[in-house]
Amino acid sequence: MVKKIKVKNSGIIKLQFFNDFPDGNLVIGEAKKNVPFEIKRVYFINNLFNPKAIRGKHAHKRLKQIIFCLNGSFTLSLDDGTNKQKLIMNNPYYGVRLGPKLWHTMTKFSSDCVILVIANDYFKESDYIRNYDKFLKYINKNAKK
Ligand code: TYD
Repeated sequence: MVKKIKVKNSGIIKLQFFNDFPDGNLVIGEAKKNVPFEIKRVYFINNLFNPKAIRGKHAHKRLKQIIFCLNGSFTLSLDDGTNKQKLIMNNPYYGVRLGPKLWHTMTKFSSDCVILVIANDYFKESDYIRNYDKFLKYINKNAKK
């Protein structure tokens, strides 16, 4: 999965891991260290048994998040309004930064897929942009912010 990220407001986050134990792997993220913000919210997505499931399809105005695929795989499609990139998420040691003003969609989930997201703020519906045309207008209006 680890590729160079070409879209704005994204990037790869590498967690610290100890994966040479006979008794399993240990993976660590720490706020303001390998996670570049204070963590206020964590959520996970599982039960991805519907092969046609589509999640995301939105951008955020201010929220900073990092998305991990803890098990299985899925496709993460990123779009900063100019550049688009698809990533296969299948390595639990690497997260992808979902910064503000980044349209993202998740598809092609394996049935055993488990996704973890850590965020720098609480849930606020007012921070979402759920319409793609509104997203394009928003990023044009707020290009320098
Ligand atoms: P949404 O963020 O659109 O899900 P995804 O990006 O995974 O497809 O959220 C789906 C619904 O869940 C929506 O009604 C808002 C609600 N929700 C919360 O109440 N709190 C949360 O922290 C999140 C992430 C979603």
